[in-house]
Amino acid sequence: MNIQALMDTAKALIAGDKGLLAMDESTPTCNKRFAAAGIPQTEEARRGYRELIVTTPGLGECINGAILYDETIRQRTGEGKPFVKVLVDAGIIPGIKVDLGAKDMATHPGEKITEGLDGLSDRLHAYFQLGARFAKWRAVIAIGDGIPSRACIEANAHALARYAALCQEAGIVPVVEPEVLMDGEHSLQLCQETTQSVLHSVFEQLYVQGVILEGLILKPNMVLPGLQCAKQNSVEVIAEATITCLLRTVPAAVPGIAFLSGGQSGELASARLNAMNASSSPFRSRLPWALAFSFARAIQLPALQIWHGEETNIVAAQKALYHRADCNRAARRGEYSTTMEVA
Ligand code: G3H
Repeated sequence: MNIQALMDTAKALIAGDKGLLAMDESTPTCNKRFAAAGIPQTEEARRGYRELIVTTPGLGECINGAILYDETIRQRTGEGKPFVKVLVDAGIIPGIKVDLGAKDMATHPGEKITEGLDGLSDRLHAYFQLGARFAKWRAVIAIGDGIPSRACIEANAHALARYAALCQEAGIVPVVEPEVLMDGEHSLQLCQETTQSVLHSVFEQLYVQGVILEGLILKPNMVLPGLQCAKQNSVEVIAEATITCLLRTVPAAVPGIAFLSGGQSGELASARLNAMNASSSPFRSRLPWALAFSFARAIQLPALQIWHGEETNIVAAQKALYHRADCNRAARRGEYSTTMEVA
């Protein structure tokens, strides 16, 4: 195993003030978003949309790595250039989603276990040949009546650690994504307690499986009150709860933390990331790892709506995509402000 190469890639993924762009929606998820935006759900439409994203002018100014889906990593622009090459030419490291989705967990109603370990080693080697240098595996943990169970947390943590070990053996940096979902009426405090339990379990399993912490990126949820919770906390309180949770659970050897957006609006995701990185934050000097972003919806959604499947809208959609990426880049420096949102 080339540990130095893994460490170099992990560092490159969170370098400077940039972040990651998740554009790895599975075909069913992509089709669902297309249907909601009134876009035809065809392979050509998905290819065209992903071409719009990877050819966005200046994308590499804000994005260090882009996470692709199996269909996308094999696709090309209309002019025949592989997307992987477009990204590399823009200074963006190609990544790949390798889990096969979260499935209902046996004997645990309402809970999911992520599948995809069988045959993963072979798939990772094939993705490396296609140009991927990092990967993503998402586990989902719901908060609800009596859940999450210990069984769900431990099974998902174990799978994440097995995935991470296989990635590192294949020369691929694992992005480890345990997502505590926003859905529900739960409080900020319950989200913090649940996220802490999940992260403790994940790092224990990473240790047991011999994963090199310097060669991975953690992709957690921010600590948030449930979407249906009557009390929605301020940006500053959320930033403090998130950092407190991470300081208690994430070893300093981890080079970077890149949050998922989880269904937050683009503006809120930027504002909350900004509050964590702001020079006024009492925590800033204590952070051992970079705090970055790995958003899908919080970067892509405005662009998708503007595009609407029409070629004439591509330039405007690319501007919207760049804008959200740029806002998050500012948030990494603690320099984002809502005034950036004024057109
Ligand atoms: O797995 C989920 C994506 O990587 C992040 O998506 O930012 O829309 O939550 P999101």
